[in-house]
Amino acid sequence: MKSLKILESRAYTPYSGSPQYAVVKGKSGNYYPGVRVENVSYPLSITAVQAALYGCMSESDIPVEIILPEGDSEFLIDYWKSHFSLKISHTFPEESELTNYILQPGNELRKDLEKLLERASVSESNFPVACILETEKGWVTGVNIEVGSWPLGLCAERVAISKAVASGAGQILAAHVTAPKSDYVSPCGACRQVLFEHLMSKRVYLYQNDGGYFDVTAEQLLPYHFKGDVLKKF
Ligand code: THU
Repeated sequence: MKSLKILESRAYTPYSGSPQYAVVKGKSGNYYPGVRVENVSYPLSITAVQAALYGCMSESDIPVEIILPEGDSEFLIDYWKSHFSLKISHTFPEESELTNYILQPGNELRKDLEKLLERASVSESNFPVACILETEKGWVTGVNIEVGSWPLGLCAERVAISKAVASGAGQILAAHVTAPKSDYVSPCGACRQVLFEHLMSKRVYLYQNDGGYFDVTAEQLLPYHFKGDVLKKF
């Protein structure tokens, strides 16, 4: 297949108007979609290839191939290629072959969140973080993914958001986060800006080690957030 229009339509690119998508093939033979997810603070944007690679890894698979539209590339492609020893190709699978990141909601959220921690890729920090998003269409999970080049890793919250966008999960209704190696969990500044863009007045539940939790809105997590609404062009 030459292109995957469905993924192009899911990209979140209100600032550039240039949708991008990629698919990563895992060792298991599964295909993992990724789309560009921009942020009003441009440097926090997630590239399509990064989203697809981390989507694959967060599902405990090993990336073996990146599939990109013909003529498409991205500035980090050489890094990804050599870091993961990847093949690059331009032949997409059928839409029906794409991994659907959306899960049926379970009824033991906290336990599921803790189980998810096993999937974190934390070779650098040994500090696993897990996130479950409740969306209009179901649950979407994320864990933190680290690579040798620290700035290219992504927090659990942002991995989950990029998977929700790539799978067309609709509105995000709530986020749940845990990091049991720490006594107190609370999203980093970058995640707060990204959570704010996708959740606004929706709630973020932060599960603490003492068995309790806090819940605040994404807006409350980031007072005086960067707005930049004049940047919206598309
Ligand atoms: N981390 C998260 O996953 N979420 C946060 O909100 C804070 C930090 C991860 C990123 C990195 O893999 C590890 O924690 C140590 O910084």
